[in-house]
Amino acid sequence: MESVLKIDNLRVEYRPTGRGQACKVAVDGLTLEVNQGEVFGFLGPNGAGKSSSMKVLLGFVPPTAGAAYIFGVNTCQPIARQRIGYLPELTYYYKFLNAEELLRFYGRIFGIAPAELDRRIDAVLKLVELEHARRKLIKTYSKGMQQRAGLAQALINNPDLLILDEPTSGLDPIGRMKVREIIQRLKNEGKTVFFSSHELGEVETICDRVAILHEGRLKEEGKVADLIARHQMNLEQVFLKVIGYEPTTTTDDIAHPV
Ligand SMILES: Nc1ncnc2c1ncn2[C@@H]1O[C@H](COP(=O)(O)OP(=O)(O)OP(=O)(O)O)[C@@H](O)[C@H]1O
Ligand SMILES: [Mg+2]
Repeated sequence: MESVLKIDNLRVEYRPTGRGQACKVAVDGLTLEVNQGEVFGFLGPNGAGKSSSMKVLLGFVPPTAGAAYIFGVNTCQPIARQRIGYLPELTYYYKFLNAEELLRFYGRIFGIAPAELDRRIDAVLKLVELEHARRKLIKTYSKGMQQRAGLAQALINNPDLLILDEPTSGLDPIGRMKVREIIQRLKNEGKTVFFSSHELGEVETICDRVAILHEGRLKEEGKVADLIARHQMNLEQVFLKVIGYEPTTTTDDIAHPV
């Protein structure tokens, strides 16, 4: 099986933001491999280092130590980005553009020829079900529509690897289901999807493998079914166990404060 994404002993430190402050270690010795055609869930509590790792894959953040490779190319080289589609955690699109214009803008950055770009714009808008709103300004879109416009943007270069940072965050159940269906369709087309999420039920249904990160370190990794069988728990319980979560407050404490 071809390795699409390889992270090798990655460390990411951020410089201190103020005098007397220490460096922030966001990712600490992360090693991970994702194979062609896999849907891989990248999990971890807030601040675990998921987005920082993804930003290294995109070349936005340089590794402090270690390295990452996309299709064998070091992510420090801009050419590594050619086969990636990326949906950032927070999407800030030009509010004066409509979906069609947004896609044309990104398509031109990738150097897609005009006729082919027209064809792709139609195809991705159909896939994310935004054909009806293609000429509406993105600023008038609902959160779910904006997220789907972001997905269309991530798909415009027909990438082999999708890196999606919380693609279902803030979406209603229908919006989440639609994103799940899109991920499933991409997988059926042979694409590889590497995404972060806090929706563990949904991760359990669509992922082939997952990794759980905590405080920058890899705590657990494997096939969802194997983790569930090994721990004899559902994925949410496995997650809470491996990050060492212990409930500190019971509802009893709230009802009867000391
Ligand atoms: N630009 C930055 N400068 C300094 N520290 C940062 C920066 N970006 C992230 N961090 C810190 O690095 C750690 C990891 O952050 P990161 O955004 O990678 O986590 P995450 O797993 O994506 O969290 P979330 O689930 O909340 O999105 C956090 O402690 C965060 O405060
Ligand atoms: Mg994040």
